[in-house]
Amino acid sequence: MKVLAAASIKGGVGKTASAVNLAAEATRDGVRVLLWDLDPQGSATYLLRAEHHLARGGARGLVGSGGELAPHIRATSVPGLHVLPSDLSLRYLDRHLDDVGRPRRRLGALLPPLEGAYDLVVLDCPPGASLGIESALRATDVLLVPVVPTTLAMLTLTQLEEVVTARRRRPRFLAHVSMFDRRKKLQRDTAAMLAERRDVLATMIPNTTVVERMGPERAPVRTFAPRSAATAAYEHLWRELTPLLWR
Ligand SMILES: Nc1ncnc2c1ncn2[C@@H]1O[C@H](COP(=O)(O)OP(=O)(O)OP(=O)(O)O)[C@@H](O)[C@H]1O
Ligand SMILES: [Mg+2]
Repeated sequence: MKVLAAASIKGGVGKTASAVNLAAEATRDGVRVLLWDLDPQGSATYLLRAEHHLARGGARGLVGSGGELAPHIRATSVPGLHVLPSDLSLRYLDRHLDDVGRPRRRLGALLPPLEGAYDLVVLDCPPGASLGIESALRATDVLLVPVVPTTLAMLTLTQLEEVVTARRRRPRFLAHVSMFDRRKKLQRDTAAMLAERRDVLATMIPNTTVVERMGPERAPVRTFAPRSAATAAYEHLWRELTPLLWR
């Protein structure tokens, strides 16, 4: 079982869009996927039409001593894709992690019982660099950072890389261009600079209303726009990631 995390210190860069669409692409290869929504905002939970609440005990029950993931997991409308939904109790995740001890190891310690049930766990992280995110990244094989190609996004990339490389058990760090607006010269120039980095994938997700429509459609792009450029881009991104996850 591999763990792929969509994370960034920056908010609103396409983490959830990548997590949901990549999870859906993975199921097409017969990969059994669990999407774990770690963001109290619950965007991934919403997009996958799951109810915005955890089972009894909420976040405390989830990560506290004796906590288990399985009772919280729900099926989605995408065959082969399950979701571990979020709810607002996750806003206290850091406190609950602290209470249980060894907080940075805690989220990873909850995964082994799911080994036989899933091939891939996709973590949709909230923005920031909290204890909860550090705990998630410690359990992660591949960290995927969506980057909107602007100067400040480059700064965030460097900062996040520092957070990750400072630790002993570190995930593979990868970025991809997100919400790319080809009409803007600054974005084209920045994307070209990003493309020179070894840790930046070749696939760029275009800025397109198809991705925005995931909100009203409450589905991955492939479900309602299978022939769109967005679907092709997420498929391409998944093709790029597969050999890096299972090397
Ligand atoms: N490629 C894209 N083209 C156009 N709009 C996009 C694209 N990707 C994401 N969006 C839109 O931008 C907004 C933020 O996207 P998303 O929720 O995926 O970002 P996020 O990084 O998960 O945000 P947060 O930090 O709040 O969790 C959403 O309204 C989404 O529909
Ligand atoms: Mg999000």
